[in-house]
Amino acid sequence: MRLTVFVSGRGSNLKSILDYFNLNNKVEIKLIVTDNSLCKALDIAKQNNIPFYCIDKKNSEQGFEYLIELLKNEKVELIVLAGFLKLLSSSFVSNFKQRIINIHPALLPAFGGEGMYGINVHKAVFQSGDKISGATIHFVDETYDTGNIIAQEKVDISECKTPEEIAAKVLTIEHQLLPKVINDIVDGKIVIGN
Ligand code: GRF
Repeated sequence: MRLTVFVSGRGSNLKSILDYFNLNNKVEIKLIVTDNSLCKALDIAKQNNIPFYCIDKKNSEQGFEYLIELLKNEKVELIVLAGFLKLLSSSFVSNFKQRIINIHPALLPAFGGEGMYGINVHKAVFQSGDKISGATIHFVDETYDTGNIIAQEKVDISECKTPEEIAAKVLTIEHQLLPKVINDIVDGKIVIGN
């Protein structure tokens, strides 16, 4: 399956996908896309000789229009948002209906929405006093974190003393869940694009 991965930060989820599929030809990452040309995830793209494209923040609408053509020409079947912070244009979303998935570091629909990313999510979970958190993979629509949920994995955070400890526990789960869901999509166990 032909994939693209969208990133904004350190890229550990991108790395988990590369590591998981390292020894087989089930997926091919055709392009890495970022809205942050200085992000660490681009080092991973370079190390793995994967082409990348940076969306210009001032002209993001144009960037998304360009990407629609590029990804269609490359026959990309699945778009994975792995720590990508920018909201996609509605035109982009409607061109790839049910073909864009996102990983969110909490159990949606709780702790989602605008501004709920990175450590903000884990701070909110910590303040809530919840004893369980986890990771969610969902389809992407025009708003933050509201698309249909595909998979969730829970983790016990009752012993966590800080939001950072929760983040570390959830990240371990993310690195298992995201490649597994992609693998299930490739195997047809999860249906996309309909
Ligand atoms: C992850 O926690 C992901 O769920 C969230 O942002 C973080 C990105 O981490 N959306 P990384 O860039 O994959 O290391």
